[in-house]
Amino acid sequence: VISLQEDCNLIRLNDSVNITTFTCGHDDLDDFIKSDAKGYMDSLLSVTYLFIHKTSGQIIAFFSVSNNKLSDLGNSKVRNKLGRKVPYPKRRKDYPAVLIGRLGVCSEYARHGIGSVVLDFIKGWFRYENKTGCKFILVDAYNEEKVLKFYLKNGFDFLIESDKAAQTRSMYFDLKRLE
Ligand SMILES: CC(C)(COP(=O)(O)OP(=O)(O)OC[C@H]1O[C@@H](n2cnc3c(N)ncnc32)[C@H](O)[C@@H]1OP(=O)(O)O)[C@@H](O)C(=O)NCCC(=O)NCCS
Repeated sequence: VISLQEDCNLIRLNDSVNITTFTCGHDDLDDFIKSDAKGYMDSLLSVTYLFIHKTSGQIIAFFSVSNNKLSDLGNSKVRNKLGRKVPYPKRRKDYPAVLIGRLGVCSEYARHGIGSVVLDFIKGWFRYENKTGCKFILVDAYNEEKVLKFYLKNGFDFLIESDKAAQTRSMYFDLKRLE
């Protein structure tokens, strides 16, 4: 089993990374990393990071992130739930957030805890090392049982109930949970 921390380098996507052979078993995500990720970076729309094996050069996992916000949902129940732990004077309509736009683990290594380690890494990064305030991690998770289970198991929660039948479900993780 591979350790992301010990066996891999974290690389910010650049022209020298060879992505031609990566697959995480999801065509949409494979297409994104192969064809679109660089363009998104050039347009400043998202940044893609890859965990690359130090000796084999194999891409083990990747994720793309962008600045985002969690807006007033017009649903006081959700808003109250999110705002409850924020001191009253600091409560607001919008909270700073980071969106995980894409995340994929190389199929060969699926179900070995690697995706969870990637999420832990992202949580730590935006909780302790971020250059700006960031309260939430957001993700539009594919509405598939294994994906929802993956995020729920990693402490994410559903933002709304009205997207239950949609293609993706909005989920969030409150970084304040990490002290
Ligand atoms: C979803 C994905 C990122 C999960 O990464 P991973 O490294 O396989 O996940 P982990 O091993 O950390 O799994 C953690 C938990 O997620 C759930 N899970 C992950 N894969 C699963 C599967 N194939 N079937 C059922 N549950 C699954 C389980 O609850 C698992 O815990 P367990 O193994 O103790 O039961 C990875 O499978 C992937 O890249 N899939 C294709 C792309 C994708 O769907 N990305 C999500 C974009 S929103």
